[in-house]
Amino acid sequence: MADSLPGAAADPGTPRIAPDARLLVTGGAGFIGSAYVRDVLGRRDGARITVLDKLTYAGNRANLAAVEADPELAARYRFVEGDIADPAIVGPLVAEADAVVNFAAESHVDRSILDPEAFLRTGVIGVHVLLEAVRAESGARRAGGRPPVRYLQVSTDEVYGAVLEGRSTETDALAPRSPYSAAKASGELLVHSYVVTHGVDAVVTRGSNTYGPFHHPEKLIPLFVTNAIDDLPLPLYGDGLQERDWLYVSDHAGAIDHVLRFGATGETYNVPGSAELTNRDVVTALLERLGKPWSLVRSVPDRPGHDRRYALDGSKLAALGWRNRTPFADGLASTVDWFVANEPWWRAAKSGDWDAYYERQYGARLAASTEA
Ligand code: NAD
Ligand code: TYD
Repeated sequence: MADSLPGAAADPGTPRIAPDARLLVTGGAGFIGSAYVRDVLGRRDGARITVLDKLTYAGNRANLAAVEADPELAARYRFVEGDIADPAIVGPLVAEADAVVNFAAESHVDRSILDPEAFLRTGVIGVHVLLEAVRAESGARRAGGRPPVRYLQVSTDEVYGAVLEGRSTETDALAPRSPYSAAKASGELLVHSYVVTHGVDAVVTRGSNTYGPFHHPEKLIPLFVTNAIDDLPLPLYGDGLQERDWLYVSDHAGAIDHVLRFGATGETYNVPGSAELTNRDVVTALLERLGKPWSLVRSVPDRPGHDRRYALDGSKLAALGWRNRTPFADGLASTVDWFVANEPWWRAAKSGDWDAYYERQYGARLAASTEA
């Protein structure tokens, strides 16, 4: 069996790409993409990675500083600033890759409610541009007797919509309920159409709520940790009894890499987390780690269309030989400790347009807040 990132279990079969493949990682300066780049290059097995990233407010080259500072890793890494929706940039990069792993997306549900256009541009047009480049290059390679370009679309459990009981399996209907998840579902449908119509060699992962170091402070766990460090109010939506299944970032990156190497063409794989918890449970745990009081938490008016619960059945991925490594208690402790130790990173992420975003998102909510 070829190596894959920590977490791989039983022999999953013959890998679809070589360990030292040339990977194009789009959105690789974001939270999960940068973990993927750090982890894959950190295996030191010859893999070469080009990151293509637009450096939106969520993209940050500092997330890749550890790669750039290590000569052996840096020699196998290149950064290109650009948009996945730009065919002139995408075409030549796909033409030199063995595989494309697409993390690029607008990723925050609340921003998709305030301003959805960029979600559609990246999630639909951007995915279309990537697929067109993969289709064209794969056709040329097949004509020359070479294997096609493999494509992995990083998707989300949110495409299933709210799941009030049981767990979603990969054959369940897609029922997205936010502009974010509708854009992600659209991207998946495009991928599927290119597999069926053009024979593109593509796979899809649907990961659950991910947490860990380098997580943008707009999301629940890093927002609450960083606000709590500053003794600022923690805006808990509604009753706080919504449920998510939390997945540690290196487990998510490892599962994506495993599916890239071993997943069957045209298949979709759920990537569940290690802990199905209510938001109240998560907030209780992070406050305990920080030694901060519950009195910081404020109940604020709920997110419109808020999905009550997500839960994934992970048997298909387990049968492919993958298992998570990180229990929630361990992952949360290292995440909280990372934010405590890396204030300059998150204070920079909370600068620029942050105050305007925060006021728009939370100003009226916090004014109307009640005891939680
Ligand atoms: P993120 O917002 O931290 O990072 C997204 C990255 O994509 C950023 O670096 C950004 O600059 C880049 N990007 C955005 N638009 C681009 C464009 N048009 N061209 C090139 N680059 C662009 O997001 P994340 O949390 O790391 O999520 C990565 C992927 O994983 C997304 O596709 C998301 O839908 C999916 N996902 C996330 C979670 C989660 O809990 N965070 C769970 C499941 C799936
Ligand atoms: P989030 O991190 O935005 O992820 P997603 O919406 O993709 O699941 O939110 C996680 C949960 O936390 C979700 O139920 C919404 C809730 N939440 C709050 O209660 N307050 C907040 O300020 C944020 C950002 C999220």
